[in-house]
Amino acid sequence: MKNILVTGGLGFIGSHTVVELCKNDYHVVIIDNLSNSSIDVLDKLKKITKKEIAFYEDDVCNKEALKKIFKKEKIDAVIHFAGFKAVGESVEKPLKYYRNNLDSTISLLEVMDEYACFNLIFSSSATVYGKPKSLPIKEDFPLSTTNPYGTTKLFIEHILEDLYTSNNKWNITILRYFNPIGADKSGLIGENPKDIPNNLMPYILKVVTKELPVLRIFGDDYDTVDGTGVRDYIHVSDLAYGHVLALKNKKEGLKIYNLGTGHGTSVLELVKTFEKVNNVKVNKEITKRRPGDIDACFASCDKAFKELGFKAKYDVEEMCLDAYNFIKKNTN
Ligand code: UD1
Repeated sequence: MKNILVTGGLGFIGSHTVVELCKNDYHVVIIDNLSNSSIDVLDKLKKITKKEIAFYEDDVCNKEALKKIFKKEKIDAVIHFAGFKAVGESVEKPLKYYRNNLDSTISLLEVMDEYACFNLIFSSSATVYGKPKSLPIKEDFPLSTTNPYGTTKLFIEHILEDLYTSNNKWNITILRYFNPIGADKSGLIGENPKDIPNNLMPYILKVVTKELPVLRIFGDDYDTVDGTGVRDYIHVSDLAYGHVLALKNKKEGLKIYNLGTGHGTSVLELVKTFEKVNNVKVNKEITKRRPGDIDACFASCDKAFKELGFKAKYDVEEMCLDAYNFIKKNTN
């Protein structure tokens, strides 16, 4: 496997995965419609990797565009990131999410089938575990969702299972991400949403750069170490490397892996670590719980370790340092 098509390759996780792919001598082809990313990221990727990267500004829903790419680039495997991902917006506009996330995936799978490319890695989320019955979360836990965004991830997982059942030629890896934060060590790429962020780390960054006045901590009465929500934060570069291991995996068929660290960190712990390692203050207040949030969520990483050799190498301190390094280099 040499030529890898990365859908959504200019996005946060996509771009970091492109870096790891290039480091491991894959040739990368990106399709991205720039709906939630910037073309500047392409130049930065070329700067970091010093490699040629083919880029197509197109929508994955557009089958004709996909066919042209498959014809020209001789794609061996696809890593599919492209999709809408704002939980709150998905509740307000469910059809927008179902249309885009399902349509793009079905179009992609049809074109892959037509060009006999059966190797796929799909970017799923720990959101498919809903409220877990116990911790750490294993891959065979029951699945449920609390919002349309999460449901698109779960539906796509089901589609992939049906596809594999219909034709065992398919070689599919579903990766369920926990909470990726941090940024590439170069400080050139990272996560900097244009709108008000939904997720914790981008929100902290906007408070530190004074673009937003205060971090609201959503509840301090959860059943956790200090009452604030606990999550499994993973450095985005570690997560990205997990995709390289998934490509190299000798095991065939349909495989599902958690990508996390196996370690839970509370909101307050994350904020305190951020303040300590970066020597800054984060203005914060405790507010009420955010609807749909759960107490705690962290991964069992045993399966990914056993079958892929995956083990995260960066800790939360490093994630906080790298996230702040990126934002310092990319704001005035
Ligand atoms: C969220 C999504 C999940 C998605 C994931 C993508 C929800 C309910 N879940 O997960 O579906 O896959 O992002 O990365 O939105 N927090 C604050 N203040 C903030 C923001 C967050 O206190 O301004 C807290 C949350 O209550 C939570 C923790 O920080 O305890 C992490 O939140 P977040 O970064 O949004 O991730 P998840 O909720 O785990």
